[in-house]
Amino acid sequence: MRGFLLPGSPKRTMQTQNPDAKTAEPARDRVRIFDTTLRDGEQAPGYSMSRAQKRRLAQALADLGVDIIEAGFAQASDEDFAAVHAIAGDLRGPTVCALARCQFGDIEAAARALEPAQKSRIHVFIATSPLHREHKLSMSKQQVIDNAVAGVRRARQLCDDVEFSAEDAMRTEPEYLAEVMAAVIDAGAGTFNVPDTVGYTTPAEMGERIAYLRKHVRNMDRAIISVHCHNDLGMAVANSLAAVAAGARQVECTLTGIGERAGNAALEEIVMALKTRSELFGVDTGIATQRLYPTARLLTNLLGMSLPRNKAVVGENAFAHEAGIHQHGMLKHRGTYEIMRPEDVGFAQSQLVLGKHSGRHALRERLAGLGHHPDDAQLDEIFTRFKTLADRKREVFDNDLEAMALGRDPDALGPWRIAQLHTSSHVGGMASATVKLSHEDGRQASEASIGDGPVHAVVRAIERATGHDLAIGDFQVRSLSLGGDAQGQATLTVEHAGRSIRGNGVSTDIVEAAALAALEVVNRIERLADQSPSVPPHPAHSNPSVSTPMRAALQP
Ligand code: KIV
Ligand code: ZN
Repeated sequence: MRGFLLPGSPKRTMQTQNPDAKTAEPARDRVRIFDTTLRDGEQAPGYSMSRAQKRRLAQALADLGVDIIEAGFAQASDEDFAAVHAIAGDLRGPTVCALARCQFGDIEAAARALEPAQKSRIHVFIATSPLHREHKLSMSKQQVIDNAVAGVRRARQLCDDVEFSAEDAMRTEPEYLAEVMAAVIDAGAGTFNVPDTVGYTTPAEMGERIAYLRKHVRNMDRAIISVHCHNDLGMAVANSLAAVAAGARQVECTLTGIGERAGNAALEEIVMALKTRSELFGVDTGIATQRLYPTARLLTNLLGMSLPRNKAVVGENAFAHEAGIHQHGMLKHRGTYEIMRPEDVGFAQSQLVLGKHSGRHALRERLAGLGHHPDDAQLDEIFTRFKTLADRKREVFDNDLEAMALGRDPDALGPWRIAQLHTSSHVGGMASATVKLSHEDGRQASEASIGDGPVHAVVRAIERATGHDLAIGDFQVRSLSLGGDAQGQATLTVEHAGRSIRGNGVSTDIVEAAALAALEVVNRIERLADQSPSVPPHPAHSNPSVSTPMRAALQP
């Protein structure tokens, strides 16, 4: 570690396997990633999950390579107990952990819930700060220590792997915290967790605190120091990293940083900081980083939440560039404006988004990707039209660019257009859609289909009407504005003949937006093939029972 090493940081040991090796690299320590998305994350407002959702996410976290999964607080409710029990039975690989207060009932419930686990841990906690001792617990310092020790001893009778957390540790007197730590290690705790429960501390303070404990706790070589930071002042990740630099070897965190109030330290940010600045920290994690984005997507889908576009590492803009100067730099060398490779966190590639800040280089590149190679004079002309359109629209889509390259109106860029669209959905039942499409060669095709929802039904109807199977890789809807007349943008990505084809549709009706996106994909496939579409003759389909007016408002 250079630069970030604080006083008291652990000295790295040299490799011993090959003593003759002249260039022996210093051994790199492993930092354990303790994920608490299913406990500290899930217990916060807006993030609750069903048991089935928790099991799905737990499996994804295991695939991501986290070392310990805190599956829940078994004593909190029967459902929490059942979720911990199910996850303990499901997972092979990571340690499954359950939280418990230093109360025998809690600890025994945690142990019962963890029974099916291949590897289990009981995590006991009690608050140690003066504020909590006086106002919440009404306990003296000694009573808190007695409770902590009794809790750890009981947990150790039931489980070999016991973690102790000193809640509100960062507002606890350092000497007293050291006393608590020594006592619980003697009682059998193998991990001592230092939570910044209220997100109050700073990186320098955190580094000093870990260094202090490492120096003053006599038996600290028998335990791993862990850190657990909340984000109230936006410093949870920085504080966690400062703790690692000072010698903590377990970090507690949640995916995308969900959790109480402003949340917990974000797992993906910690992992990528340790990896990207590995020369500084000199530690490894067991995380398969290319699974970060898909796992974060799974979480947001399960919770029905969207991340800010600029969310570090996994936000939609994390690898997107619009400014002309940046795009020019990226086209020359991606290192100019990217410190991580998108593929390393699970994005397919960097994105050069064409908007009003973009320049000629990016425009030429994107046109080439669409199969258009204008000469300089043509490019100048397209660029002028592009800038005029970009001033009106937030993002210029491939369809717009193709229309410009072909000198046509984007709305008339066929060959297919929607003539009519009807959808109908029933709560608890299937949805249906009827489409009537017209082709620029004069043909008309009408089709109906059912689906799991109106979007599914309408995409299937378009597939049938045009004769193209759309192998959908990705489908996203997002609101472009607020209010009852808000516009929704649907983006559909389809794998076709070895390439990804993206279609966009914008409408106040998300089903219509999805239909427009699907049709844009079909049209691009046909334009790419440069041949007449082979649409099998379909009888015109009209079923009044499935026809209802399109919804005019953006659905939540
Ligand atoms: O924030 C906190 O102090 C906690 C403990 C229970 C570890 O979540
Ligand atoms: Zn917490």
